[in-house]
Amino acid sequence: MHRDVVPQYDSRMTSIYAQRRARLAAQLGAGGIAIVPTAPERPRNRDSDFPYRHDSYFYYLTGFTEPGAWLVLSAEGEATLLCQPKDVEREIWDGYRLGPEAAVATLGVQAAHSSADLDIRLPRLLENRSQVWFPFATHGGLAARVEGWLNQVRARVRYGALCPAQQGDLCLLLDEMRLVKDEHELAILRRAGSISAGAHVRAMQASSSMLRAGEDVREYHLEAELLHEFRQHGSEFAAYTSIVAAGANACVLHYRAGNAPIRDGELVLIDAACELDGYASDITRTFPADGRFSGPQRALYDLVLASQKAAIAATRAGARFNDPHDAAVAVLAQGMLDVGLLDKNQHGNAQDVIDRRAYFQFYMHRTGHWMGMDVHDCGSYVEPTEVGQVSERKDPLSGEIIKNRPSRILHPGMVLTVEPGIYVRPAPGVPEQFHNIGIRIEDDAIVTADGCELMTRGVPVEADEIEALMRG
Ligand code: GLY
Ligand code: MN
Ligand code: MN
Repeated sequence: MHRDVVPQYDSRMTSIYAQRRARLAAQLGAGGIAIVPTAPERPRNRDSDFPYRHDSYFYYLTGFTEPGAWLVLSAEGEATLLCQPKDVEREIWDGYRLGPEAAVATLGVQAAHSSADLDIRLPRLLENRSQVWFPFATHGGLAARVEGWLNQVRARVRYGALCPAQQGDLCLLLDEMRLVKDEHELAILRRAGSISAGAHVRAMQASSSMLRAGEDVREYHLEAELLHEFRQHGSEFAAYTSIVAAGANACVLHYRAGNAPIRDGELVLIDAACELDGYASDITRTFPADGRFSGPQRALYDLVLASQKAAIAATRAGARFNDPHDAAVAVLAQGMLDVGLLDKNQHGNAQDVIDRRAYFQFYMHRTGHWMGMDVHDCGSYVEPTEVGQVSERKDPLSGEIIKNRPSRILHPGMVLTVEPGIYVRPAPGVPEQFHNIGIRIEDDAIVTADGCELMTRGVPVEADEIEALMRG
């Protein structure tokens, strides 16, 4: 990786990261200590790495974006950073390093050392602590590494050293903290959402104007428009691999932008958004390639939009995470019967469609997920105060017995997506006019006391508005 520009560390941010560390330290228990590595650099192929992306937990606590760094935090609030040492020769090749000498003042940690000394420093830092916390799930091999350091402490027990007797999953603590976003985070998320919305506008306009000009338009042309807009506004990456799906490709949920031609009369589904300053956004729009919905496309589009409106209306503090999904499914179930996707004679009424999960043929994913630094952000989907309330139900399609726990109660500052869809693969009994139509509409919402704030409405969502934009 190459970093030729000296990064700017905003001194106003130092206190925000310090406050987060203090909140975490208070949860480590007497004598506890936490170890938080950043992400490793990952080779792509010979001499070439994937673009470097820091670890989200580590960044949340430090704001530090260099690879090769570790944070160790004690329950007393002492933060020790281990980072790459200054190295003139390496910096010529790879770019600027902050170095431990500057890290204390710049990042507001209490101590900093070279990460070259990690295996010497860590056993010392772990000695005489009661419990060690580290992320269990996100860093392969970390548990073995911690075990190695603990073994070094154990080798010293005859000299009076105490070895931590307990290990805890640090993700459990940090996931809860990250689930509710602070004002600083919300401001970045809003900016990311606004840039991504602009990128969707640009892709819609490019699609219709290129088709009008008689050009050969491919999915990758529209992806190029999106990426241009992200970078143009200072976003470092796409938050996830962009989906640009022409026509039937929209029915492949994890499709990515390929080279399929975009044709008059077909829909284009774009699920793409940028990451900005370490925070994601996540937008899907579906639009007619040439700017005019056909009758069947419009019928299904309006149905998905109605289901999204119902889900948005159900997104507010005090509601449950599942409520938007249930609201969307209720609208979709009724609509699938009304437009004839599901046969009333075969499937009964909307409640029957829900009870038997018949809608699943055309809507097979959930209506949202947490979003934050990671596009599928961390945080339990079960209400922590009710984990003991287990109920069982038999799944109508698989016959499997499923254990349910009450879903999470929403609080102001939680951020989630609202993204219903309909995907119609050709099948016996499915009206031909709907075959190969895939539609999803996705926006990002901040939960507020009495509703939610949509951060991604800089791109139109009403069918008429999309048509007007694309004509313009
Ligand atoms: N773009 C990923 C998702 O919508 O969940
Ligand atoms: Mn998405
Ligand atoms: Mn999403």
